[in-house]
Amino acid sequence: MFVVVGVTGGIAAYKTVSLVRLLVKAGHDVHVIPTDDALRFVGLPTWEALSRNPVTTSVHDDVAKVRHVALGQSAELVIVAPATANTLAAMTAGLASDLLGTTLLATTAPVVVAPAMHTEMWRHPATTHNMRVLRERGVHVVGPADGVLTGGDSGPGRMSEPEDIVAAALALVERPHDLDGLSVVVSAGGTREPIDPVRFLGNRSSGRQGVALARAAVARGARVTLVAAHLEADVVPDPRVEVVRVGTAAEMQRAMDAASPDADVVVMAAAVADYSVAAVSERKLSKDRTGGDTLTLELVENPDIVAGLASRRRPGQTIVAFAAETVADEAELLERARAKAARKGVDLLAANAVGWTQGFESQENAVVVVTGAGDVVSRAAGSKDETADALWDAIAAARG
Ligand code: C5P
Repeated sequence: MFVVVGVTGGIAAYKTVSLVRLLVKAGHDVHVIPTDDALRFVGLPTWEALSRNPVTTSVHDDVAKVRHVALGQSAELVIVAPATANTLAAMTAGLASDLLGTTLLATTAPVVVAPAMHTEMWRHPATTHNMRVLRERGVHVVGPADGVLTGGDSGPGRMSEPEDIVAAALALVERPHDLDGLSVVVSAGGTREPIDPVRFLGNRSSGRQGVALARAAVARGARVTLVAAHLEADVVPDPRVEVVRVGTAAEMQRAMDAASPDADVVVMAAAVADYSVAAVSERKLSKDRTGGDTLTLELVENPDIVAGLASRRRPGQTIVAFAAETVADEAELLERARAKAARKGVDLLAANAVGWTQGFESQENAVVVVTGAGDVVSRAAGSKDETADALWDAIAAARG
């Protein structure tokens, strides 16, 4: 495969040396495009020797071969590692001030970036905004990892390990197309049940796992509708996915009921409130109006959306639920998963353990997948993208 590796000016450039080696060893035709700044960290001869291809940084080299766009046009995959805050800003603005900039504008190949910078720079609103725009355009982001940074400080900002970047990038282009032609509905995020005009009952779901499931399905050939309740700001659906935004459990039920009849597969990954407020106050509740030291809210049970979809499913339709459980051990997780799969009448249920520090806000997940009959068909752990692919493998296998 023709792979372009953009290297930008961060200390993590030394790790990209092994990233290039991994790609070459796997038999890929690797073309490295360092920025001028990157060459201050790792020199041009290193990139040429490792990639076994000529390396230039300037749009003025090799003009006869229209090199400033040729590499982008030929690329089947582009990886930018490390991607500095400056490069991510340049990508967002579409700047074409060097060979990497022109290549990124000229390519239609999947683009994977591995950000690396100090935590403060990663969390700066400018970088947050840029990442959001890039994700909306379909750029795939790997990392950054959490850990010790060059200055001895620590936090999110370390470039992910080369093996992880290569695995994520190759998985994008080497995916099976086993969902070709299928219509899929995925729900994601957490519902919000209003109490009054300014308050709600919510939960800590980020929407990351459901959005990863939708992205994986579209990459494997499906037509995907994502019914999204509240998503965290950095959780951005793939642009190829049709997104229906909802707020409450009732809105999610209407959207799922409308989208699901024609779907081949329905995956309920959203964290739906089990209860909503019986009488939503038209006016903001305030201490002087409610009085007393305590406040009692009456809650009414919400209908179970996925159980309803399962009871009405047509032949050939696969219904998948999730279960986030606070459990002592794997045995209890399995026991609860089996009981829930049976109670809801679903074909498959993916159960994961959650807690104060586990599951919800994390980039990682670990699930055990059981059938409606209680058989364990899959176990997966890793990034939420990896978990998504493992679940689609299980769904594809269950559909035969
Ligand atoms: O019963 P529990 O809420 O743990 O079940 C979780 C699964 O059921 C998830 O797939 C969730 O999306 C779905 N669910 C639903 N309707 C509800 C509550 C949960 O479809 N009212």
